[in-house]
Amino acid sequence: MKSIYLVGFMGSGKTSVAEYLQKELGWGLQDTDQMIVDQYEMTIPTIFAEKGETEFRNYETNMLHTTTTENTIIATGGGIIEKDENRQWLKNQGNVIFLQTSWEEIGRRLQHDSSRPIWNNQSRDKQKLLEDRTPKYLEVASYVIQTDNKTEEQIAAEIISNIHA
Ligand code: S3P
Repeated sequence: MKSIYLVGFMGSGKTSVAEYLQKELGWGLQDTDQMIVDQYEMTIPTIFAEKGETEFRNYETNMLHTTTTENTIIATGGGIIEKDENRQWLKNQGNVIFLQTSWEEIGRRLQHDSSRPIWNNQSRDKQKLLEDRTPKYLEVASYVIQTDNKTEEQIAAEIISNIHA
């Protein structure tokens, strides 16, 4: 079957839902952020600090193109939809799930986070970023799940019933 790509803002639960789905379906698991870290042997904050966001986005695009397009759950970075080319690529894959999470819930989940350079950049308006990105997530999504007040198990079950539908 076609791979499942999970998209959504930072803190929407892509990585944990992907891990849950992987166990349930017995498929492979890939995470574009982790693939970048492994390939370039640098953490995400170090890449942002030393190479800059533009270069990170290039790495991310390269990684997206190397993901496995069958029987794999792929958790993507929250900014993957920024590039037109990536949105086009995702739409061509077809099986893209948008985990949609409210601003309030994201704030609660990431309040102690120090691993995300954009989240921790005080000069960025993250709420505006969420507003700007939402139409882009919707553009690529074949299915949208509202994640507020749902467990990972419930979200995974919703995804599985959707792919079997
Ligand atoms: C980013 C989200 C991060 C990571 C990087 C940039 C973004 O991934 O790719 O810090 O631009 O939203 P998560 O969505 O897994 O936090």
